[in-house]
Amino acid sequence: MKAEPTILTPKQTTFLVRQRVARLATASGSGEPHAIPVCFAFDGRLIHIALDEKPKNVPPTRLKRVRNILENPNVALIADRYSEDWDLLAYVMVRGQASLVEPSTEEHTAAVRLLRGKYHQYERMRMEAPVISIRPERVASWGALDSLESAEPVVDILLGRRSVRRYLDRKVPEEVVERVLEAARWAPSPHGRQPWRFAVITREETKTRLAEAMGEEWRNNLEMDGQSAEVVEKRLEGSRRRLLDAPVLVLLCLYLEDLDHYPDAERQQNETMMAVQSLGAAAQNALLVAYASGLDAGWMCAPLFCPEKVTAALDLDFKLIPHALLTLGYADGDPPKRRSRRPLGELVVYRD
Ligand SMILES: Cc1cc2nc3c(=O)[nH]c(=O)nc-3n(C[C@H](O)[C@H](O)[C@H](O)COP(=O)(O)O)c2cc1C
Repeated sequence: MKAEPTILTPKQTTFLVRQRVARLATASGSGEPHAIPVCFAFDGRLIHIALDEKPKNVPPTRLKRVRNILENPNVALIADRYSEDWDLLAYVMVRGQASLVEPSTEEHTAAVRLLRGKYHQYERMRMEAPVISIRPERVASWGALDSLESAEPVVDILLGRRSVRRYLDRKVPEEVVERVLEAARWAPSPHGRQPWRFAVITREETKTRLAEAMGEEWRNNLEMDGQSAEVVEKRLEGSRRRLLDAPVLVLLCLYLEDLDHYPDAERQQNETMMAVQSLGAAAQNALLVAYASGLDAGWMCAPLFCPEKVTAALDLDFKLIPHALLTLGYADGDPPKRRSRRPLGELVVYRD
């Protein structure tokens, strides 16, 4: 099969080849639509889709997409980019004629090489089934096709995450909590010593005990600051509600016992400082994976101000130093708007 020169513009081509997944829409002879995500490669003229060895219930040639193409070769393929930054949204839609390229042909060999080059997973597959090849006839596109900004999932997650302070009364599955803790475990730490420990609190009774212990200290502090009785009660009630309403609390404690010990106070202080920095990294890992797992989270600094009260309330080892509480759950209603950030130019103070 000799393909015509591509009708895609350079921008559309660049966008398309960078995408890892696209959606292939086919229709049966009677017009019944069918759409499916596909891995694909574009050689500049034809788009190739393997009928590979990913687990399937039927032989490749019995797949609905293949039967549709045999009945009706008109197909559409759309590759799109979603980003939390909507200035980066984009898609390319190609409509054209699909055909099956049979194995043991030059075209098949070339398509398989291209697909294997793009997806290393294909290297270990035999790739002996026909390949779907689409000859583009019409192309539509929209959005920031040529944006160099990455829409990497991790960037999306860190832009999407925000502090949530009100939760629905909905249980968080244990395995999701484990994923969050597992993410925290992989944070960078000084000498790789992981100077942090986590306490997970879900029981109403324990939350109440913790809220009361921390509330007592806070009340003293607010009164010391000269706040009116009304303000003190309001703020305490708000904080208590946050703790009781969050389905899961994760207390992040500093644990300094495994760190290096120095004869001088200054280096010792820096060692502790590194541990605190690392606790922040563990917290951020947890927040990002919570968000990526469909959860919402918040950060409460209250334990830092009354560490002994917290260890006593939870009957924890006195060597643990409570630093922060992460609340986990599903956001209730509209969470407060994500706070804006200072421009980068203000934060980067030196470049040379
Ligand atoms: C060390 C630290 C302590 C924080 N303590 C609290 C807190 O006690 N209560 C609270 O509502 N938010 C707390 N936050 C969350 C910040 O207010 C929030 O991250 C910030 O306003 C930016 O909003 P965003 O997280 O929605 O982007 C804390 C954040 C950090 C990093």
